Amino acid sequence: MTGAAANGPMMRTLGGEAVWPPPVWLMRQAGRYLPEYRALRAQAGSFLALCLDPARAAEATVQPVRRFGMDAAILFSDILILPWALGWGLEFREGEGPVLPRFAGEADLARLEPGRVAAAVAPVLETIARVRAALAPDVALLGFAGAPFTVAAYMIEGGGARDFARARAMAQAEPGLFGRLMALLEEATGRYLSAQIAAGVDAVMVFDSWAGLLSPRLFARHAVTPMAGVAALLAQRHPGVPVIGFPRLAGSMLGGYARALPLAAIGLDTGADLEVALGLLGAGTAGQGNLDPAALLAGGRALAEETAAILAAARGRRFVFNLGHGVLPETPPAHVGELIARVRAG
Ligand code: CP3
Repeated sequence: MTGAAANGPMMRTLGGEAVWPPPVWLMRQAGRYLPEYRALRAQAGSFLALCLDPARAAEATVQPVRRFGMDAAILFSDILILPWALGWGLEFREGEGPVLPRFAGEADLARLEPGRVAAAVAPVLETIARVRAALAPDVALLGFAGAPFTVAAYMIEGGGARDFARARAMAQAEPGLFGRLMALLEEATGRYLSAQIAAGVDAVMVFDSWAGLLSPRLFARHAVTPMAGVAALLAQRHPGVPVIGFPRLAGSMLGGYARALPLAAIGLDTGADLEVALGLLGAGTAGQGNLDPAALLAGGRALAEETAAILAAARGRRFVFNLGHGVLPETPPAHVGELIARVRAG
């Protein structure tokens, strides 16, 4: 069926070993900074068409690993594929990012159709099978989804937003409606990730890109609790498959998140002080991060110094080297090669 599961540095780290030099992969390692990605997207016609074309999406997933030799590949897809699969509209406009219909009331809940998801995501699952079969057994394949809060936030805003005020206000002014949307997304996310694991991913990551905008009370309710539900479903269906959480911008709320959740690793954004953050995570959870994507864009001395500081803080710990957020589209590909070489030199 699918290719062999991965057994290299990434999976060993997620499984509990402190591996040195640490495994390295980059959020948004497939994307516009790579000329071969831009060519593939032009062939597909649009980003969404590329996500739903298994042969091309598999190629986009493998491209950065072929060029730079990262320790993990991340499925080429998007967190907004799940609302799309639920029957919600989705469009990616050039230079504008995602545009969705605005989720505004009870009538919109009825427009979401969980029964559509399995058939709609079939191309994504086929992509996974193709990638796992194409990757070397020491390279981990990561599946992913957006966390319920972050996906709800894009739906409520109708796209990206500076501070997601509309979504944060709905959570508080209309808790019943917001809670029903969150419950639906939690269930759909758990099932979607379970299907990705069944299709061949070695581990999954849940991106809560905007979780850190919530107050501690609301963070507990809308970031931690839904993640606990997703993790419990996955632990029951796929015991031992590592789950990575990424509650971006969580700051001092990281400790509570780590203590409450059975996660193999937690993603750390650029503002996380590694000494503090790795302490908050404790020994049971690996850290993953947190180089400034702008240091990678800058290259040279900035890249060398920032990389060295992270390696020094993480040495001896369970750690996955990554960025604090995604690769910026203007990044020269040569800087990525230089970064991987520096991490491999420990
Ligand atoms: O290489 C990888 O990381 C795998 C693929 C991946 C994409 N998006 C591809 C993508 C992953 C893991 C994501 C996650 C994602 N998508 C998040 C969570 C991480 C984060 O960045 O906070 C979010 C919030 C999204 C939603 C999204 N998708 C936005 C806001 C945008 C527009 C901004 C942008 O960078 O263009 C996208 C588009 C998107 N997703 C692109 C890619 C490669 C660019 C599409 C293109 O123009 O080719």
